[in-house]
Amino acid sequence: MSGPRNTGIMQSILLNDGHSIPSVGFGVFQVPADGSTFKAVLCALQAGYRHIDTAAAYLNEAEVGQALRESGLPRNEVFVTSKLWIQDYGYEAARAGIRSSLEKLGLDYMDLYLLHQPYFDVQGAWKAMEEARDEGLIRSIGVSNFTPNLWKRHVPHFATLPCLNQVEFHPFFQQRELRALLAQDGVVLAAWSPLGHGNAKLLTHPLVTTLAARYHCAPCRLILRFELQEGCIVLPKSTNPDHIASNLKLFDFTIEDGDMNLLRALDTGKGMRDPEEAGRAEDLLARYRVHP
Ligand code: A2P
Repeated sequence: MSGPRNTGIMQSILLNDGHSIPSVGFGVFQVPADGSTFKAVLCALQAGYRHIDTAAAYLNEAEVGQALRESGLPRNEVFVTSKLWIQDYGYEAARAGIRSSLEKLGLDYMDLYLLHQPYFDVQGAWKAMEEARDEGLIRSIGVSNFTPNLWKRHVPHFATLPCLNQVEFHPFFQQRELRALLAQDGVVLAAWSPLGHGNAKLLTHPLVTTLAARYHCAPCRLILRFELQEGCIVLPKSTNPDHIASNLKLFDFTIEDGDMNLLRALDTGKGMRDPEEAGRAEDLLARYRVHP
């Protein structure tokens, strides 16, 4: 993997499969499919985002597709990520799940598709992902919510190494052990909840506000810039047009090494969610249904 590459206002990172991914993406988890997702994604594309992150389980893929078409942007200028839901794991179900995402998005290929959660028949689902990639339906394949233990349990059995692992990451949870493991294989970490889900304790933390004032930026920009400098892909979410625009202004300042170290010291080693928690798979399956 190479370091960040500057492509104007957006930067991209080279994945271990040779494709590039824009380092800032717009996340739409929990944005309802009542016109809100369409509005937010269109606003993001007009503000300059060129990477949208959705999932089958977010139930808003169709509105993402609608906004992409409405934007008038050529298909190859926007990087689109979606994720396979655990209801559709196992080889046959995954093949159908991949086609369902493409249909809802109204696309003939996705730039990146991820196994959304590390449960049930992961191997069968991964095999279907590899095949869909070979058929040209997906450019890059990766995983999400794989802890170091789950990575070591599943990935050695995959024929293809994932290019990316999307996990919780923010200054209070910096995933040190996982990052060391992924770095060995040139696998990129993408950060979900890069703003700690809007946690006021993070956004108003005295170190964050002091450094934000020093770099003349909003606390959210400081946090996102910190994460980019740590080599992560960031996927901030917002439905507020001012926040959407502000969260993209990350390439006109650099946090100095000493300040990076101060921010690194905010790590608590604990996240909001533990994918290894007992009953987590069943709980997710009960809460999120992509079909009956
Ligand atoms: P809003 O939609 O009002 O902007 P995360 O991506 O870590 O899950 O965080 C999402 C939360 O952070 C949302 O509640 C969002 O609220 C808030 N947020 C996103 N960008 C900003 C910003 N620039 N300033 C303040 N809050 C923000």
